[in-house]
Amino acid sequence: PTRVVVLISGSGSNLQALIDGQQRGQLPIDIVAVISNRPAVRGLLRAEHAGIPAEVLDHTRYDSREAFDTALQECIDHYRPELVVLAGFMRILTPTFTRHYEGRMLNIHPSLLPKYQGLHTHQRALDAGESEHGVTVHFVTAELDGGPPAVQARVPVLPGDDAESLAARVQSQEHVIYPLAVKWFAEGRLRMESGRALLNNEPLGPNGY
Ligand code: GAR
Repeated sequence: PTRVVVLISGSGSNLQALIDGQQRGQLPIDIVAVISNRPAVRGLLRAEHAGIPAEVLDHTRYDSREAFDTALQECIDHYRPELVVLAGFMRILTPTFTRHYEGRMLNIHPSLLPKYQGLHTHQRALDAGESEHGVTVHFVTAELDGGPPAVQARVPVLPGDDAESLAARVQSQEHVIYPLAVKWFAEGRLRMESGRALLNNEPLGPNGY
């Protein structure tokens, strides 16, 4: 199985989707560690409950972004992962860090990238009067929320939606497409080459799969 380290900052529902997939034998992965930059979050309990080593690297204890990223890289590499999965990891990463994991780090972002990079994506989609919204799994590059998309899922914006109801609709799709992208990566079907995402050796378009 492919060795995976998952980075989280919070609830860890995407982590849970990966744990469930692994436990059901649907994902050829071994989640070898979960690392959180915030102490006492629910995702850490999910890891412990699944018997996965869980570590906290509190970013507030580091003097600079560089110092935190250096410590984080050491912590990750100790587990020798083949894939690093950012699952609600709410930190901007330095180019040195992202370069080190290029082609072997995935992120999930709650919008139809390239739309709505950054924060508060659901409210911004509502404010813009979008009829459609969604979520993107992409390879991580130095450009924030800018790496090549691997898989995208769309959901409708419905009358009466607020940010919370829309986020819930998007999240149910996150729990489908993140395990799918991780599965394809672990099977060697999904990879990044020359800044493009490839699925079964075919370049994926701007919307991913
Ligand atoms: C997810 O909705 C994910 O898309 C989002 O954080 C949430 C984490 O939920 N990620 C970002 O906003 C990244 N900028 P989870 O902890 O329950 O998986």
